[in-house]
Amino acid sequence: MARYHMSSLILLFLVLALFASPSQGFLGTKNKIKSAVFLSPKLVMSLGSVSDPYLFDIDFPRGHIGLKSFDAEVVDEAGKPVPLHETYLHHWAVQPYYVRKGSKLPQREMFANHGFSQQDPQTNLDSRSSDIILVKNGGLCRSSVLRHYFGLGSETRKTSTYVPDPYAVEIDNPEERPDGYEFKWLLNIHAIDTRCVEDKTGCTECHCDLYNVTVNEYGRALRPGYKGGLHCCYDKTQCRVKSGFGNGEKQRNLYLKYTVKWVDWDYTVLPATIYILDVTDSQEHICHVEYDVEPCKTNGDGCIDVKKNSFMMPFNGYIVYGVAHQHAGGVGAALYRENGEGICTSMAKYGNGVEPGNEAGYIVGMTSCYPAAPVKVSYGETLTLEVNYSSAVGHTGVMGLFYILVAQQLPEPELSLPNLFQAHAGSVSVLAFLAVTVLVAVVVLIAAVTYQRQNREDGYHSLTT
Ligand SMILES: *[C@@H]1O[C@H](CO)[C@@H](O)[C@H](O)[C@H]1NC(C)=O
Ligand SMILES: *[C@@H]1O[C@H](CO)[C@@H](O)[C@H](O)[C@H]1NC(C)=O
Repeated sequence: MARYHMSSLILLFLVLALFASPSQGFLGTKNKIKSAVFLSPKLVMSLGSVSDPYLFDIDFPRGHIGLKSFDAEVVDEAGKPVPLHETYLHHWAVQPYYVRKGSKLPQREMFANHGFSQQDPQTNLDSRSSDIILVKNGGLCRSSVLRHYFGLGSETRKTSTYVPDPYAVEIDNPEERPDGYEFKWLLNIHAIDTRCVEDKTGCTECHCDLYNVTVNEYGRALRPGYKGGLHCCYDKTQCRVKSGFGNGEKQRNLYLKYTVKWVDWDYTVLPATIYILDVTDSQEHICHVEYDVEPCKTNGDGCIDVKKNSFMMPFNGYIVYGVAHQHAGGVGAALYRENGEGICTSMAKYGNGVEPGNEAGYIVGMTSCYPAAPVKVSYGETLTLEVNYSSAVGHTGVMGLFYILVAQQLPEPELSLPNLFQAHAGSVSVLAFLAVTVLVAVVVLIAAVTYQRQNREDGYHSLTT
């Protein structure tokens, strides 16, 4: 008799175990994470040279996936990491786009067509019947700048871009892809060769005089008083090298080596949207991207340039990750609620050696913010971004960006019987609840039948013994 009771009990336990164990289906994106390493097309660099190409259709995992991280670094032909004091990585940025199938646009036309030159008022992209449609992040900048998905600079080696579980950035949902288009990735790499230059810091901060530049990348005169920044160190400009060295010397080929981690998309993955807050943003969301830090008047260590900007949040959701992007001189950045409550902080890490990833004087990493509990943000709420730079010396062309990842939905409480019986919202848990109810009923039925049969058999047995 005990044997039959045992078998019903085991069945019941099996059913309970099935539903009570922290379900791999629900939160376990970790065990399905895939990873691949790619090399960008080559960058040909020589003493003082600048490379700032927009590379279309780069190698990337295909299909309906959830991005978990994107990490990158500059390497040479032999695959050896190149230190920042040789090649300064001003930034890299990846941006998805749709391209009409079969369209064969040359790179130049792709560039004019795709939107980055929207900063150039004479190119109005959206009005063209476009072979290219940029897939933009959630905001907040309205122009084409800062609409990329991932992007970092010198800090890339020691900055975590990992999207915490169970979230991921959804890529190429077939239901959103326009008919006749394919999903591709665009990579912009901005690298400055500072070997043998007269002034490494000046070259990395794009001082216009060192580049001997008077017009911007579109051939227009720089605005009066513009001393340094992106408009002076665009593709194929040349920073001044020390006397005795010539432009074009010591040419070498470099690559951006990037590692992508992803999961195949399914219901267990929760989407998170990327937003980029720019401290130079305006009310109309015209993002200036860069600004200058004036040297402080008083000497000493207390010289901190604090720049703040407030943003109305255009979503209801939960911040699950945050990280700042700053240039050398940066101290850190933080995001606050209106009442002053801190939400996320990202601090600069400086190197103190010469080896790649630890170059003295450079920001080699930014700390990422992974809130202990997702930070709820309501539509219309105002958040303040604070960006700090040391102003012991002045800086040109610095940046104060803050990336946040926002989930619209939090994971359901883990599936366990107590939780299931409490659950009332969410179709998945209702379904699970129904399934459990039915299973429990079946088990009870089997147990009852078995018990009855046992009693009969027990009676029978007792007669024969
Ligand atoms: C700077 O540019 C001007 C023309 O724009 C040129 O005449 C001059 O030689 C350049 N100076 C250096 C040092 O390259
Ligand atoms: C920025 O500097 C101000 C003033 O020194 C300080 O109160 C604040 O905590 C700093 N914030 C960050 C993120 O470093």
